[in-house]
Amino acid sequence: MIQLRGVSKSYGGRVLFAGFDLDLVPGKTTVIMGKSGSGKSTLLRLCNQLERHDQGSVSLAPIDIPAGLPHGEWQRRATALRRRTGMVFQGYQLFPHLNVLDNVTLALRVVQKVEPLVAAAKAVAMLELVGMAKAVDRFPARLSGGEAQRVAIARALATEPEVLLLDEPTSALDPASTASVVAVIADLRQRGFTLAMVTHDPELGRSLADHLVELA
Ligand SMILES: Nc1ncnc2c1ncn2[C@@H]1O[C@H](COP(=O)(O)OP(=O)(O)O)[C@@H](O)[C@H]1O
Ligand SMILES: [Mg+2]
Repeated sequence: MIQLRGVSKSYGGRVLFAGFDLDLVPGKTTVIMGKSGSGKSTLLRLCNQLERHDQGSVSLAPIDIPAGLPHGEWQRRATALRRRTGMVFQGYQLFPHLNVLDNVTLALRVVQKVEPLVAAAKAVAMLELVGMAKAVDRFPARLSGGEAQRVAIARALATEPEVLLLDEPTSALDPASTASVVAVIADLRQRGFTLAMVTHDPELGRSLADHLVELA
């Protein structure tokens, strides 16, 4: 699973990570906690290489990405690694002009070139997993925050990623919506999905974590 070895990352002279190691374990949930600005989002973005590291290596076997690769080669390996991951953001980022089904099938159709009927079947299966299969033809503007976030989770899972990265998935939600999203994440964990979740809710973090990473 995703491995960081001796990873360093700085922004404008400020060192966020120095010689940092991380192992995401198959079938386990890693929770990342720490105060605002401690680098939680950056850590997830290093895991899927939306962000490049300055030193060390990031790998998802057999892909290994040492620091300092020529740009084109980094991009090639980073894209290959990223396609094996799924990401869910705090603000869901659903496409407003697409209904729920089209949001969930988009990557399957466009990136993976899966046939529309096959893509739809996969999408419905993922929407069932998050309790949103009845909403296939609704548009994002008509969803509550919790519903939208559950659709975002289904969308991230549609391409069958080996790991799901969740960046503060409940922090923009009211308590009822939070509860519905937490129930989905707990269910995925129970089913043996590999998860890495950032949260600044200590109670939520401890309740879901198989492994806890605290950033200073
Ligand atoms: N692309 C970037 N360019 C410059 N600085 C950044 C960038 N991304 C994050 N940072 C800085 O790195 C620090 C950690 O950010 P972040 O990982 O978003 O923290 P967290 O998610 O824990 O709040 C912050 O000080 C932030 O301003
Ligand atoms: Mg953040």
